[in-house]
Amino acid sequence: MSNTPKRYTITAALPYTNGPIHIGHLSGVYVPADIYSRFLRMQGHDVAFVCGSDEHGVPITIKAKKEGVTPQDIVDKYDEIIKDSFNNFGISFDNYSRTSAEIHHKTASAFFKKLYDDGKFIEETTEQLYDAEAKQFLADRFVTGTCPKCGNEEAYGDQCESCGTSLNATDLINPKSAITGATPTLKETKHWFLPLDQYESWLKEWILEGHKSDWKPNVYGQVKSWIDDGLRARAVTRDLDWGIPVPVEGGEGKVLYVWFDAPIGYISSTKEWAAREGKDWEPYWKDQDTKMVHFIGKDNIVFHCIIFPVMLKAHGDYILPENVPANEFLNLEGKKLSTSKNWAVWLHEYLEDFPGQQDVLRYALTANAPETKDNDFTWKDFQARNNNELVAIFGNFINRVVVLTNKYYNGEVPTPAEYSKVDEETIAALKAYPAVIASSIEKYRFREAQAELMNLARLGNKYLADEEPWKLVKTDEERTKTIMYVALQIASALATLSEPFLPFTSNKLKEILKFSAEERNLNEGELSQWNKITTREALLPSGHIIGKAELLFAKIEDEKIEVQLQKLEASKVANAKASESVEPQKDTATFEDFTKMDLRVGTILEASKMPKTKKLMVLKVETGLDKRTIVSGIAEHFKAEELIGKKVTVLANLAPRKLRGVESEGMILLTENAEGKLVFVNPDEDGVINGATIN
Ligand code: 2FM
Ligand code: ZN
Repeated sequence: MSNTPKRYTITAALPYTNGPIHIGHLSGVYVPADIYSRFLRMQGHDVAFVCGSDEHGVPITIKAKKEGVTPQDIVDKYDEIIKDSFNNFGISFDNYSRTSAEIHHKTASAFFKKLYDDGKFIEETTEQLYDAEAKQFLADRFVTGTCPKCGNEEAYGDQCESCGTSLNATDLINPKSAITGATPTLKETKHWFLPLDQYESWLKEWILEGHKSDWKPNVYGQVKSWIDDGLRARAVTRDLDWGIPVPVEGGEGKVLYVWFDAPIGYISSTKEWAAREGKDWEPYWKDQDTKMVHFIGKDNIVFHCIIFPVMLKAHGDYILPENVPANEFLNLEGKKLSTSKNWAVWLHEYLEDFPGQQDVLRYALTANAPETKDNDFTWKDFQARNNNELVAIFGNFINRVVVLTNKYYNGEVPTPAEYSKVDEETIAALKAYPAVIASSIEKYRFREAQAELMNLARLGNKYLADEEPWKLVKTDEERTKTIMYVALQIASALATLSEPFLPFTSNKLKEILKFSAEERNLNEGELSQWNKITTREALLPSGHIIGKAELLFAKIEDEKIEVQLQKLEASKVANAKASESVEPQKDTATFEDFTKMDLRVGTILEASKMPKTKKLMVLKVETGLDKRTIVSGIAEHFKAEELIGKKVTVLANLAPRKLRGVESEGMILLTENAEGKLVFVNPDEDGVINGATIN
């Protein structure tokens, strides 16, 4: 691609339509994507910012089953709720589509068919996991088990969310059906596989060599480690009944893998938009002068950096993403956000509690965005960002400027007299901001960009505080006019530069300052809204009449924050209660079954954490029979030192298995206490309830 793209295709991960969206979604994907798209439009670029609901996939069928309704009911319900949340928070998609839309079914089918016709797939009959009781093949989220890479015991059949690795269901250790809890059997079935291994050298050249310096280190590092580990063929079809039917012979009763169809949703959404706008969609996906950027969370990296690009490459005529600025995760008050544990701030609930304060949340989330590492959202920080920054700096500055202009000049922008040195410096600093903020946005550093915006407000505040027009007005009218003129130019720049970050505030401020419609829509290169701040003599010319003052932000009192903290406390209590409920009894075991198990008392002699894993601990255990190695997924719950000398119960005759190359000869029995912490099987351990399962 040449240096200046002719157009931009900006995609934001299609949210699964199995629940509403929360602050984690907004902070990781949609706010950064929106800032970027708004910024590009304000610079006069041609932008297609697309998204839509991801309506296929197992989570939706699981949710439908749980609620006793159809998958279609589920997606219809959440598509509405999600769309409303995006609208309410000012996420400025050019198009928001759905993967149940006809245009998407057609586009995804045709895409698959082309790869099939061109011989890009491997067609193979293999043994796949099957739940005999549910009479169903188990793929994706229908099956959980231990990740062979990091030991996470809750990995899914297609991906481990703990280490991000993309998996085949048969890779899971100790797989378990998410439908019945049964251990799956194997059954033959035919599928189409995308041979990722054949694209390894191309991926190496494109990403490892081509994007070493411009992709974020967290993204580049993950991709490199997967490629270095070696890629394998991945099935892109499933034995399910919810999804897009496989459009080729032998595909009856099968659907496309959700991660095959979902990213094609970006293409269908672009088509839908182009048709509505009377444009041609193809250049947005096929012209080398288009810059494509995917905004996603870190659990989506493998799909956007490896699988989808391989699909696009195999198709032959598509461009590839220039960047995939994935974010890490946002936590809430120190804990992982969780839909099932209701540990979240839901957007629709936020709006009920803080009506009209969308920008405050956008601001707090960007200020704390998990750009380089996981980050924490706390209600106290949210309150402080609002009260100490938005109210005390931005709002205060604007209010003073507008109130004084009305008071002294009936709202008319005065004519300045001679500039002082401070005025010159202030104007020069002001004119530098568009480039400074732009440079951070172009590097996907949105926190930094927003911090610079706030620095501009600080500049304005300091200027007024130092120059004190309210004192001078009595003695030096000309000087006062000059100060107010300069301050009004800063206010005007803030109105424009805040738009990507605080769109509602920007709009309100433009109304207060009485920006004309023409002014708001400038979008030609140098004259664009963004660049005019640097290139124009005056942003608000003398004689222009502004409107009356209106508060941009309101202080948030402690009581409001307390209510939010109590809501979370209620979730905590409910979760603790729920975790007291015991799992149902398993199928009857015969006496022979029981006597097959060789349970022994042992003592841990040595313990060390398995390198490069979060959960695995390698233990040397004295069992009375021998000293043996047992690998156990307890590293997040115990330090190595505290394990040494512990007496434990060992299942000694469990078939040995390899975890990360280390052979584990047995299993240590553990249970969970009410707080979800793993403890050794010892009924006297703190917080172990009757009925806790031992595994
Ligand atoms: O993780 C998710 O929520 C997925 N639904 C994202 C899909 S992105 C895409 F469409 F490629
Ligand atoms: Zn893993």
